[in-house]
Amino acid sequence: MPAKRVDDASRYLPESKTLPALRNAVQKCKACDLYKNATQAVFGAGPASARIVFVGEQPGNEEDKQGLPFVGPAGKLLDRALVEAGIDRSEVYVTNVVKHFKFEERGKRRIHKKPNSAEINACRPWLEAEISVIKPKIIVCLGATAAQAILGRTYRLTKERGKFTQHEWAPYVSATIHPSAILRAPDEEQRHQQFQDFVADLKQIKNKLQRASEAEEGPFLSLDRDKVAGRSR
Ligand code: URA
Ligand code: SF4
Repeated sequence: MPAKRVDDASRYLPESKTLPALRNAVQKCKACDLYKNATQAVFGAGPASARIVFVGEQPGNEEDKQGLPFVGPAGKLLDRALVEAGIDRSEVYVTNVVKHFKFEERGKRRIHKKPNSAEINACRPWLEAEISVIKPKIIVCLGATAAQAILGRTYRLTKERGKFTQHEWAPYVSATIHPSAILRAPDEEQRHQQFQDFVADLKQIKNKLQRASEAEEGPFLSLDRDKVAGRSR
C-alpha cells in the first residue's frame, strides 16, 4: 500500500524568504484543498520589524474578499482593543494559521468552517516562514485554534490564557480569546466584560514587551533612544 502522502506547503515556498516574496508565492499554493473555493490567499500584514505577531485562525468572509487579514468585524474589534491597550497596530504583524478561507455556503451567505488538523499542518510552513523573517519577541495566539497549532494539541485556552511560554519561534508565546468569540457573546454585558478582559491581556503583553526590551537594552539606553527619536522628528 502506498504511504499516505503528507503534503504541506514547503514545496511552494520561494527561494528568497522575504515577506513580499512569500506573500506573492502563497497565491500559488495548492498544498490542501482550501485554495479551490476561496477568492485568494490572505497572507499576514504588518512590518517585518514588528516585535509582536498576532496569529488568528483563518481569514473570514471580508478578509477573503479584500485579501488582507483582520479587516472584517473581528479585525475592527481587534483594532479597538489595541488602541485601548496602547499598542500601535502599525507596529504589529497580524496573520493566520491557515491562509485560505474555509466556508460552507448557506444560501447567499458563506459561513466560516473550522480548519482541520491536516489543513493546519499543510499551511504551517507559511506561518513558520513569516515568523522566521520577523523574529518577533512575542507571539500572541488569538483563540484555541492558533494556540493549539503553535503550542500543541493539549493546550487549553481556558486554563492557560495569558501565560507566557518559551517557544522555538519566539521567546514568549501567549494566547488569549479570539475577537470573534467576543462578538458572539450572548448579550451586551458579557460582550463588554469579555472585551475588557481581552484589553487586559493585551496590556500584559505590552508590559511584557517593554520589560523584555529593557532587559535587552537597559532602561537608560531605551530612554536615550526615545530622546534621540524625539529629536529627529
Ligand atoms: N478571524 C481570523 O481568525 N482571522 C482573520 O483574519 C479574520 C477573522
Ligand atoms: Fe496552501 Fe494554506 Fe491555502 Fe492550503 S490553506 S492551499 S496550505 S495556503
